[in-house]
Order: sequence, then C-alpha cells, then structure tokens
Amino acid sequence: MTQRVLENSSPFFLAEEQLAATDDLAQLFTQPGPLALEIGCGIGDFMVQLAAAQPQTNFLAIDIYNKGCIKTCKKIELEGLSNVRVARMEARHLLLNYCDAASLSAIYINCPDPWPKKRHRDRRLVNDEFLDMARYALQTDGSLYFSTDFADYAEQVAETLVARPDFTNQQPAPFTLALADYPISKYMRRFLDLGQPIHYMHYRKNAAAAALPRPEALQPGFRTRERMASND
Ligand SMILES: C[S@@+](CC[C@H](N)C(=O)[O-])C[C@H]1O[C@@H](n2cnc3c(N)ncnc32)[C@H](O)[C@@H]1O
Repeated sequence: MTQRVLENSSPFFLAEEQLAATDDLAQLFTQPGPLALEIGCGIGDFMVQLAAAQPQTNFLAIDIYNKGCIKTCKKIELEGLSNVRVARMEARHLLLNYCDAASLSAIYINCPDPWPKKRHRDRRLVNDEFLDMARYALQTDGSLYFSTDFADYAEQVAETLVARPDFTNQQPAPFTLALADYPISKYMRRFLDLGQPIHYMHYRKNAAAAALPRPEALQPGFRTRERMASND
C-alpha cells in the first residue's frame, strides 16, 4: 500500500515549480539581503534559532524528509519569522539546478546522516564532489559550516577540507568541539547531554577558488538550471 504524501500548505513552503519558475532565488523572499542555505534542516530547530539571530539574512532550509519540512514551516510560523523559506529537496539537486554561481553567503550542514558502516561511506553527502558544488554556489568569503556527532565523519570532512585550495579554515584546528554562538538543535543536544561531543567546522571559500574550473557535474551536458530552462 502506498503512503499518502502529506501536503505542505504553509506560505513558507516552496514547491519545486516555484524554484524552477524564478531566475533568482532572492525573489522568493520579501526583503533584500544575503541568502544562506541549510541542508538537512530536520524539524527546523537550528533554522529558527539562526533566522531569529540574523533577521537581515534570508534562509532557505531544505530537507528530503516531508514531515520535517512541515514541522520546520510550523516552527517558522510560530516564531513569526519572515526570512525563511523551506523546500523539500535533495541537496545536490538544489545546488546543481537552482543555485547560481556565487549566490549563497553561507551553507550550514548539521549532523548529516553518518552512514557509519565502512561499506556505506560513499553515501555520505560531504565529499570532494559535493564541495565543488558548494564552492560554485558560495560567494567568495562565503561560509561553509559543518557539524557532526560522528567522529569518523568529522575526521573525513576535515581531512578533505584541509587539503583543498579553495576553502580556508576559520578555526584554530581542522575541527573543534565548540563553536561560539552556534545554535544547537534538539538532535545535537541529545548527544551533548549524553556527554558525546559535536564536532564543528567553519571554512570559507577563498579567492583561490576563482582560478578553479567549473565543477565537472556543472559542465554542459549535465542537467543544470540553464539546460532545464531550454528545450534540449
Ligand atoms: C540526522 S538528521 C539531522 C537534522 C538536523 N540537521 C538537526 O541537527 O536536527 C539529518 C537530516 O538530513 C536530511 N538529509 C539527508 N540527506 C539529505 C540530502 N542529501 N539532502 C537534503 N536533506 C538530507 C535527513 O532527511 C534528515 O532530516
């Protein structure tokens, strides 16, 4: 039996058609300002705190989890926030199809699925291919925040980021166990309350990124936004 997909009727929810219909994601917000992205917003705990702390920034929160998107929208309504929009979307799909070059001021990723088994490691979201897409979408000096409860994922991402010429670490170590003023989601809180650390990273896209080629996945031939807008 197939499950009925719950409809998200929140005014803060963006259907894919709305993303596809605009040339500029900034137009989906009521105020001008920098645009930041949260990938895997879950039930919206982190997003509502961050959006309240940064009212001049517009935030797009995405998740593939429908009930999570619905709960995130409800929290935004409850908090009376006007600077957040939510879309049910896979991260790489959004970056490849709807984010223009240098359109994002920041990307936040908190506790992405850890895929703890060694044989499933290549299912993890953050790897070199993903970071190429993030580099393309971020402005120079744009921030990439990554947090995880899973030490092995932290080590893998820190090792990958440190080796890249296009991102510069903003912290004294490849990752840290505290990050000042960074909101904590209920999911993160659960680990902290058990005495298990959250590993934090804050890197910025640097000027060297300009010299790097457009990521392979965004080369002509792949289904990019420009291509989707044409009949080819
Ligand atoms: C472990 S939860 C953490 C949620 C939230 N960041 C928090 O800290 O409470 C991971 C979330 O990422 C979402 N997710 C996993 N892979 C994703 C992807 N490729 N694109 C968008 N969301 C994704 C999942 O649906 C889930 O809601």
